[in-house]
Amino acid sequence: GPVINPESLTCFQALSQCLIAVGPDGNILWIETDIAKCNLEATLEERGLCHDNHMLVVLKPGEFIMPGFVDSHIHACQIPNLGLGGDDQLLDWLKNTVFPTEARFKDTEYATRAYPDIVNRVINSGTTTACYYGSLHLEATKILANIIHAKGQRAFVGKCNMDRNDDYPCYVEPCAAESMETMKCLIAHIQGLSCTGAGEALVHPIITPRFALSCTVDLLTRLGDFAETVPDMAIQTHIAENPKEVEEVRKLFPCISSYAGVYDHFKLLRNNTILGHGVWLTDEEMKLIAARGAGVAHCPASNFFLSSGMAQVGKMLDYGVKVGLGTDVAGSNNPSMLYTIQMASTASKMVAIQSKEGEHGRFTNKRLETAALLYLATLGGADLCCLKHRIGSFKRGKAFDALLVSIRDDTGNPAVWGYNRDRDLDEGPYPQCAEKNLKEWLQRFFYCGDSRNIRRVFVQGALVGGQEFQC
Ligand code: GUN
Ligand code: FE
Repeated sequence: GPVINPESLTCFQALSQCLIAVGPDGNILWIETDIAKCNLEATLEERGLCHDNHMLVVLKPGEFIMPGFVDSHIHACQIPNLGLGGDDQLLDWLKNTVFPTEARFKDTEYATRAYPDIVNRVINSGTTTACYYGSLHLEATKILANIIHAKGQRAFVGKCNMDRNDDYPCYVEPCAAESMETMKCLIAHIQGLSCTGAGEALVHPIITPRFALSCTVDLLTRLGDFAETVPDMAIQTHIAENPKEVEEVRKLFPCISSYAGVYDHFKLLRNNTILGHGVWLTDEEMKLIAARGAGVAHCPASNFFLSSGMAQVGKMLDYGVKVGLGTDVAGSNNPSMLYTIQMASTASKMVAIQSKEGEHGRFTNKRLETAALLYLATLGGADLCCLKHRIGSFKRGKAFDALLVSIRDDTGNPAVWGYNRDRDLDEGPYPQCAEKNLKEWLQRFFYCGDSRNIRRVFVQGALVGGQEFQC
């Protein structure tokens, strides 16, 4: 059936009649991009396959397949405070809303009750890969990793390193040594989880200094020294989200010239570092981040909810910074990447409208168009976590991490299909929809869709969620 396949920031394939073969290990064996031209029976025979209805999935009218979303920044332990505290800005919000919520995860029974629903909700929103922040607790974060593993989502899971919290002193680690020790226990635990049929782990550990303000110099030094011993392990943190936060970092590290410079100084800025937000980065910092090969998780929904500002995504791209999208739940009031895509579009339009310098370069101060939004939500995120060779698009040898989307009116979401039914019907039968229609379906899904339209979610070829999934 119809398949959407991202290619670059400016281009994606909209294939009306595509056939994707997935092997028993969940990797893509081959792709036939136009089955009408090739004839289904002949193709199957040529590939040594019989026409077996158990093996062959033919999409129903109004359905299409696209790669799953990569949420490159999400706090699993903040779903309990979703939508709360948006009258505050970052530092007050952390103190008044976030830290009291996260502190509850000290109770492992609470974590055991809360995390399964949280992970289900993220998967059913179409997120096939998530970079999760847990709370600072070892046991609760082990529980989170176990649940993600059992449900079959691809993920990075870290527990916050934070041995400094003057604003809310009852939610802090006792010292740098203990922060390191519990982090290492979590890493060992995650590395002990079993692999998939493809011999590959789906859940990975990630080093997670919460942000510069929550770490002592002692802890940042130890984290950098440790990171050096595990160059392939990803790192996630926050950067330049809010002006007051930036000012506090300047006061705390007066001898270091910038926020990005702080992470760089402690050897935490490298090719697999994922920096959340980056709203207030200077040009010099963007250049430094690009030079280190690090990337930014753009979190526009959160940046609106917490009045943080609008990141200069176009400029980052022009400087060669890798960019993906993050919900930053519960900075965002919605765990859906679709909502984040909508906010990324709106933010880019606001940046374009307000810019005094005008458009320049390839992307600076320009709107993010559909191809760019699709790229950021899939391949861009994959690139951030150094998994571009495995996920983010459909290609022989890559994992089949995918969404089966429906824009039919029987999904229960009238916004997606209802109004333009006549127009779509006029333009020919589907699922052999015209390329133009398929591009419109994607736009309709992006701007009017929600979880109801995500019928099936696949990770590494396995069905793990969606509206039609019964666990
Ligand atoms: N900076 C440090 N911690 C957090 C957090 O939990 N959420 C957001 N949005 N920013 C942070
Ligand atoms: Fe965050």
